[in-house]
Amino acid sequence: MWNIEEIKKDVRSNLSDYRYNHSLRVMEEAEKLARHYHCNVEKCKLCGLTHDMCKELRDKDNEEFIKKYNLSKELLNPENKNIIHGVIASILVKEKYNFTEDMTLAIKYHTTGYPNMDLLAKIVYLADKIEKGKNYPGIEEERLLAYQNIDKAIILCLNNQIKHLKEKNKVINKMGYDTLKFLEQNTTD
Ligand SMILES: [Fe+2]
Repeated sequence: MWNIEEIKKDVRSNLSDYRYNHSLRVMEEAEKLARHYHCNVEKCKLCGLTHDMCKELRDKDNEEFIKKYNLSKELLNPENKNIIHGVIASILVKEKYNFTEDMTLAIKYHTTGYPNMDLLAKIVYLADKIEKGKNYPGIEEERLLAYQNIDKAIILCLNNQIKHLKEKNKVINKMGYDTLKFLEQNTTD
């Protein structure tokens, strides 16, 4: 069984300084949110630390992984560029570190969320967007809302993401839309 220090070293060896530092900040934010919302602190920290551990794999590595695990080749399409690293990480964390099912799910969908997310997944999604190193229009409101109403904070994040992508003539992944629709229909004050 790996402990968090060993996992840190392992993640460190696979990432640039830039992304490793982001991962540490996501871990820190996830811990704060976990304490605030009484979620499992250890799980939130571990997911925050590892969520991007496959983001710097080369295209060739991604292709090999897809083949080895018999995953959909569609994951290699450009529109899934932001999705594939979560899918691969979700498999690796289970194989290597023995992460539980709820942890692998939170990591798999950390970029877009998914409908009916559990609290762990919500925390990992949000911590990735609002960690203290990030800076983009609307983030201060997201940070405030994150500690008031986590569902509303995620709705705001997704809407901001959609707006930002529109400006660049891009669209959000379908799963992001599905998450937004679900939360809008199921979130109350
Ligand atoms: Fe991230």
